[in-house]
Amino acid sequence: VFASPICISFGVTNDLKDKRVNIQALINDKVSQALEAAGAPAGSPAAVRQSAKVQFGDYQANGVMGVAKKLGTNPREFAQKVIEQLDLDGIAEKVEIAGPGFINIFLSKTWLAEQAENALKDARLGVAKEEQKTIVVDYSAPNVAKEMHVGHLRSTIIGDAVVRTLEHLGHKVIRANHLGDWGTQFGMLIANLERHEAQGGDISMDLSDIEGFYRESKKLYDEDEEFAKTARNYVVRLQSGDEYCKSKWQTLVKITLEQNQHNYDRLNVSLTDKDVMGESMYNDMLPGIVADLKEKGLAVEDDGAQVVFLDEYKNKDGEPMGVIIQKRDGGFLYTTTDIACAKYRYEQLGADRVLYFIDSRQHQHLMQAWTIVRKAGYVPEEVSLEHHAFGMMLGKDGRPFKTRAGGTVRLADLLDEAEERASKLIEEKNPELDAAEKANIANTVAMAAVKYADLSKHRTTDYIFDWDNMLAFEGNTAPYMQYAYTRVASIFKRAGVELTDLTHPVVINEEKEQVLLSKLLQFEEAVQTVAREGHPHVMCSYLFELAGNFSSFYEACPILNAEEDVKQSRLKLALLTAKTIKQGLDLLGIETLERM
Ligand code: ARG
Repeated sequence: VFASPICISFGVTNDLKDKRVNIQALINDKVSQALEAAGAPAGSPAAVRQSAKVQFGDYQANGVMGVAKKLGTNPREFAQKVIEQLDLDGIAEKVEIAGPGFINIFLSKTWLAEQAENALKDARLGVAKEEQKTIVVDYSAPNVAKEMHVGHLRSTIIGDAVVRTLEHLGHKVIRANHLGDWGTQFGMLIANLERHEAQGGDISMDLSDIEGFYRESKKLYDEDEEFAKTARNYVVRLQSGDEYCKSKWQTLVKITLEQNQHNYDRLNVSLTDKDVMGESMYNDMLPGIVADLKEKGLAVEDDGAQVVFLDEYKNKDGEPMGVIIQKRDGGFLYTTTDIACAKYRYEQLGADRVLYFIDSRQHQHLMQAWTIVRKAGYVPEEVSLEHHAFGMMLGKDGRPFKTRAGGTVRLADLLDEAEERASKLIEEKNPELDAAEKANIANTVAMAAVKYADLSKHRTTDYIFDWDNMLAFEGNTAPYMQYAYTRVASIFKRAGVELTDLTHPVVINEEKEQVLLSKLLQFEEAVQTVAREGHPHVMCSYLFELAGNFSSFYEACPILNAEEDVKQSRLKLALLTAKTIKQGLDLLGIETLERM
């Protein structure tokens, strides 16, 4: 059901070694034990997965064929032996062999019902916390004096969903907004800031179009030799810690942060000022790192620069690729900073895992930095450095997403347009609501639509930004999911009862009830998969399927008109569905509405 994990992980793969409590893990353990008891070598994979179709039961064990092949026995006969050893008493009501040797497992209705009762009583809906790890997540990472553009949007949205999920599972999550706040461009920016100040303008006004300010600085730098000289001088002064230049630089950082924060708040992204760990933070570490790499024999001087040659990467002539860590003029590079940053995250922040949400074009950069990090022994192998790469955002025409004039799309403009479009939509759908409520719905739907459109796609592929698609009330979209929540919640509300009024237990009689409940109980698997693989689309697919299962159930199984005991049981399923959708969307950073 879920797409296979594609996580470009560096070092150990992040297998959950903790004890698993979800149903898939429980059954997987049981089948593993049975496999061994039937004569399989220790550690043979049981490969238990959710079944793709109802007729194959709830779960399927696919590991038997592989083991039988190794043992040279008939897979179906071996499957029979495994089943004889399989102890799913009280959990499964039927276990059968299918096809060449699959084992289909049908969960017991009584057991499922018990799990539902437990989940309903629990604020976490039965999702257990994991053994706590310290996890650093590098995401968003826009650049100072540059407008946040759509490329940062993917990192921000996907990273934030994973952060929320990891926190929900009980981990200590450190958000690291690796702000691009350093580089030679600051010379011209400081010089231009000074120029604006001298003209007595309102600086925050002047910088409200920060991209324009950047362009203006660049133009002055290219065309005015006097200005360029000042700018170059400021670069040197800034790098040597000059107070005057530092304070100007701080002004630029501060204004950029304020503008970004406005975007984060609109998008309900959990980043704040406190999470900024910009590139400049690592400056003091850089000379020491270069010296250390030289001492370790990893860095050598080449044409005046300090270079690390890596056998793992070959240049076009088939020779080891040279990674420059210090330029001839003494300047450090983006790679040097990422080496320092990985070291810092392990040593100072105590990371057990570091996740980087950065677009796939920076993959080689990261791999080179981390190869050096490992060789130098800065981060031990058991701490995983993971690049969770994503593709580009494309326009409907399949080309990089641009404005009509061909420029980069400002994030703020994009969010404005989302709100305008959602307002029109809500106006058509709910003209009767008062203006304030309409505005609130439109705003919630708009931000959710932009986020969900991104979250629901497999992140490694390029993604086509399409307004009509993301705002549609059908399909795997935010409006559909938000509406599904409102609808399910309203059924429960219409019944006019509280959970405590429901004294009859959950009882499963119909297939649609069983399918819905079995899906409900797979919530934990979805949460854990997102945490492990950094793929929020797994949660989106899960919620979309759940909403579909609920619709089928609702069509086939009347609730409010049913006999009291059946009615109560079904109301409980509806309530658990509403809670699950709400919590799932919440982990994605998507808000729900009680009415829309
Ligand atoms: N600021 C960079 C950019 O806009 C992204 C930084 C990603 N994080 C990192 N540790 N390199 O491309």
